[in-house]
Amino acid sequence: MLHLGPQDGGQGSGRQSEAREVFDELTPSIRMTTVHESLGWCARPLPGCQYDMAILEGVVQFLMPPRVSPRSTPDRPLTDVRRIVELAIAVLSAALALSVGCRSEGNADRANWAADAAGSSQTTLKVRPLTDSKFERTPERLARGKYLVNGIGECFACHGPLDPSQPGWPPVRGKEGSGYANYTPAGKLWYVAANITPDHKTGAGTWTDDMLARAIREGVGHDGRLLDPRVMPYEFYRAMSDEDLASIIVYLRLIPAIRNPLPAPKRSDHIVAPFATPITAPVPGPDISTLAKRGAYLVQIGTCQWCHTLRDQSSRQSLNGLEFAGGDLIEPNPYGQATSANITPDPSGIIYYNEAFFLKVIRSGKVGARKLNPVMPWWFFGHMSDEDLKAIFAYLREVKPVHHRVDNAEPIAYCRICKHMHHGGALN
Ligand code: HEC
Ligand code: HEC
Repeated sequence: MLHLGPQDGGQGSGRQSEAREVFDELTPSIRMTTVHESLGWCARPLPGCQYDMAILEGVVQFLMPPRVSPRSTPDRPLTDVRRIVELAIAVLSAALALSVGCRSEGNADRANWAADAAGSSQTTLKVRPLTDSKFERTPERLARGKYLVNGIGECFACHGPLDPSQPGWPPVRGKEGSGYANYTPAGKLWYVAANITPDHKTGAGTWTDDMLARAIREGVGHDGRLLDPRVMPYEFYRAMSDEDLASIIVYLRLIPAIRNPLPAPKRSDHIVAPFATPITAPVPGPDISTLAKRGAYLVQIGTCQWCHTLRDQSSRQSLNGLEFAGGDLIEPNPYGQATSANITPDPSGIIYYNEAFFLKVIRSGKVGARKLNPVMPWWFFGHMSDEDLKAIFAYLREVKPVHHRVDNAEPIAYCRICKHMHHGGALN
């Protein structure tokens, strides 16, 4: 959105202080959004979230399209920036008023309307009709599903409450998969991660296998509504092989049913093609001929790039050249805020790691003496086999090194490499 840092390459601190002035004039909620530009969504249900997500959502959708962002024209004089700020606020107010209206009428066209308003490349989305296919329950699938759900898939990180009193915030015992409703501090429902246990009344007990399959990889809920890619990472699960998908579903059918009534889910207004499109051809198992190729698959279904690669919030495309380079400032939570780390093999990333050290970090949630913020789902990843973790590391060694410093011990500041605000941004 509006990054009013030293975009002119450091010449002219006068311009910078004028920028600061404009920034300080903004209302606190808009300012917060400026800081949280890379957000628009919480990575996990974090109880301490202090900001009104309705406002964030509105801002992300209506202010962020590059068309009104000074990001694409870094040399624009600040008087123009000031005008853009004013315009943006006007657009935002209108957008929020409209969106409130639409919600209260339960307007089914909201998704398309919002897409048009955001000017993104979204088109009319197709939803594949359900089939009555049923995955055969085999012991192999059950074991594989358990391994995936509690490890790389980290499904219960969102589909159930977490226990902040334990390192890494594991799922609350006995509530795994029972669902979670996340509210804004203002008490508004933000999103509902469904109860995916086999409970017949409040969970997935009456859903068919294909309802689950279509939701996980294609982003369509059991009831046919499109799911929000900002809160359910199906854009990454899309790459999941048919066999792994079957295994996850076989396992979910056999976990204890937990009765946990939740509010009705919200209709998403942020659907992005091509992620929410039908999968009609078989998805074979991954190429595991080398350790790094095996790792590539795990990194994909482990959603590492959901957090470790900054992306455009409208198109959800990666910001070119910043793959795995971190810089995504993730919601405040009781442990404080955290920016995702640069995990590329660069001196500003994790070049100094070796395989054994990587395994230790993921298993312990500590980088030497430094504890990782629990937003990083190491607790889940730590349940993976040594071979799988080694594969992930082998893959990370092969990604392009990107110079981009992120340091959670440093204040949040504008970064001239990624053009976002993040911890240690001033170091770049
Ligand atoms: C980062 C949080 C997160 C993770 C991780 C996650 N989910 Fe979800 N999931 C959600 C949210 C939130 C929704 C509801 C989205 C909406 O309503 O737009 C959802 C929706 C679903 C639905 C559709 C529910 C319905 O109403 O039909 C299924 C099924 C599902 N998830 C299964 C899974 C499985 C299986 C995994 C692991 C492989 C998983 N999810 C991982 C957050 C998550
Ligand atoms: C939900 C967001 C999220 C996901 C998903 C995620 N990470 Fe992270 N990760 C973070 C954040 C935030 C940090 C920084 C934590 C801190 O510094 O306290 C981090 C830190 C790390 C670190 C430590 C870097 C260092 O030395 O400071 C490694 C390694 C890492 N992540 C690897 C991965 C891998 C591999 C995956 C996928 C399998 C992954 N992460 C998925 C959010 C995420």
